[in-house]
Amino acid sequence: MARRRVVNPATPRVAIMTDETGWHTGRLKKAFRARGVEARCVDLAECRIDTTWTPHGLAIPGFGRTLPDAVFVRGIAGGTFEQVTLRLGILHALRESGVPVYNDARAIERSVDKSMTSFLLHRYGVPTPATWAGESAAHAQRVLMRETAAGRQVVMKPLFGSQGKGLKKPGVRLPSLRRFSQVAYLQRFVDAGEPGFDWRVLVIGKQAVAAMKRVGGAGWIHNFARGAHCEPAELTPQLAQIAVRATQALGLDYAGVDLMPSRDGSPVVLEVNGVAAWRGLQSVTPVDIAALLVDDLLARKLPESRGALLLASGDGPR
Ligand SMILES: Nc1ncnc2c1ncn2[C@@H]1O[C@H](COP(=O)(O)OP(=O)(O)O)[C@@H](O)[C@H]1O
Ligand SMILES: [Mg+2]
Repeated sequence: MARRRVVNPATPRVAIMTDETGWHTGRLKKAFRARGVEARCVDLAECRIDTTWTPHGLAIPGFGRTLPDAVFVRGIAGGTFEQVTLRLGILHALRESGVPVYNDARAIERSVDKSMTSFLLHRYGVPTPATWAGESAAHAQRVLMRETAAGRQVVMKPLFGSQGKGLKKPGVRLPSLRRFSQVAYLQRFVDAGEPGFDWRVLVIGKQAVAAMKRVGGAGWIHNFARGAHCEPAELTPQLAQIAVRATQALGLDYAGVDLMPSRDGSPVVLEVNGVAAWRGLQSVTPVDIAALLVDDLLARKLPESRGALLLASGDGPR
């Protein structure tokens, strides 16, 4: 007969939402453990809304009839519109049940939708290239012609894209919107020359904690997943300030902010990642990123006394 593990009821329990376990979840679990917190990985696809499951109507594998004390969102697998809606719905439901979710589902939704990201960045005065998003191919074609006539180029991106997939730099003819799920998202191209680079800045809480340059890759696309290599970069006050403001504009607790140098050298924000990976960044930065994330979650999201107590007992790097 399997022995039941005895868990101290005072030990806070955190769910790490992820569809794959590996390097990131290993680092997070270690940092939580060092602070006396039990963390377990949960696949959002295995969570359920169940109104017969009293009292809260949410079934989170591994948590029985209870709910976690907090949730860290590490990964949300792609799927049908309905599947993703349900997975985000679980995160919304957790928040509605009083469970702190890091990052909150509302903020994740804003960052996943590149058009909403552009809108909010613009609204909050964060420097970002001019952007147009709509369903009319005719309008997008007119924008393209106008920009081309003015000697500028534009980038087309899938609204929900990631890892540099599906981006295009069209000539004068707009590609079929079928490849873009019938949505035209156009952003003015920022020319960083050859071989070109962009910045990734990680913001945790109200602080930018690390920066890197991503150099090379697939032509002008400098994602790590597209073959770019990571180099340490100086976190200048200007880079830090813009990245923090971008994170706040979207209401994210932590974010991976992508930036490029504009013509005068000052940074502009290309996009903000609300479910950001940090393995590449960790390879060029001395700070322990998982430890900083966990410290921030405990300090700001757990009830005050509890979080402070755990931080005091933690032996991880600060
Ligand atoms: N407006 C732009 N001008 C120049 N390069 C861009 C622009 N937008 C994106 N890129 C390049 O493409 C990469 C991927 O674009 P991004 O908007 O970050 O989408 P993804 O979600 O796929 O990472 C960026 O990191 C940058 O290197
Ligand atoms: Mg990006």
